[in-house]
Amino acid sequence: MIVAANFKTNKTRAQTRDYMDEVNEYIRAENVEAHVIVFPPATAYDNYGQGAIQGAQNAYAVENGAFTGEIGLDQLKEFGIKTILIGHSERRHILGESQEEIAFKFAYFQSLGYEIVYCIGEQLETRKLGEAALMQYIETQLVGIDMEYEKLIIAYEPVWAIGTGLVPSNEDIFSIHKALRAKTSRPLLYGGSVKVNNMREIVDLDNVDGVLVGGASLYAQSFCEMIKIAEEA
Ligand code: PGA
Repeated sequence: MIVAANFKTNKTRAQTRDYMDEVNEYIRAENVEAHVIVFPPATAYDNYGQGAIQGAQNAYAVENGAFTGEIGLDQLKEFGIKTILIGHSERRHILGESQEEIAFKFAYFQSLGYEIVYCIGEQLETRKLGEAALMQYIETQLVGIDMEYEKLIIAYEPVWAIGTGLVPSNEDIFSIHKALRAKTSRPLLYGGSVKVNNMREIVDLDNVDGVLVGGASLYAQSFCEMIKIAEEA
């Protein structure tokens, strides 16, 4: 089971330190076997010791150079970061990353052997058109992506479910993950308003191998509860 926390633009380095201390302490004390990843903001990258894997929410596909405001491979290497989130809906829809740019970034980090958590998901108007249209849309987010890359983790996150408290029905998650399973043998995460009280039923569904959590992951205690649910699932 995989449990991933995406802090987005939240938490300072000091706050992340307190959080990681608590989560890593839990992971060590409980001998957690689940694959736990935390994506802090880039200003909070640090050496947090054994426990959760530290991942990057984003990076530019370059070692270093003249790319104002971006970070590259050198800045990730400094903290031993070998996991990256690519294609998150906020980068697609708010920051305007195109599928072409996303596929380029994917190929770059794949060539370096990074673990890649690759996000896909439809907007509400597409969801309303039914599952065939939805899967057709998802297909456009898979262009240029090696779906059998051995360090790939796919996160299905409907845009309308992110940060809204809305979650697709279990039947819908089941059905979409089943369709995704036909496209990859790699782990499939669900993301979008996952909380302590709805996680169990979601991870119990076939072809759901874990969760990617935003808002509810910001509290170390509730994230530890989610790790516990993953361990029991
Ligand atoms: P949320 O975000 O859990 O706050 O809905 C999920 C995500 O964007 O990964």
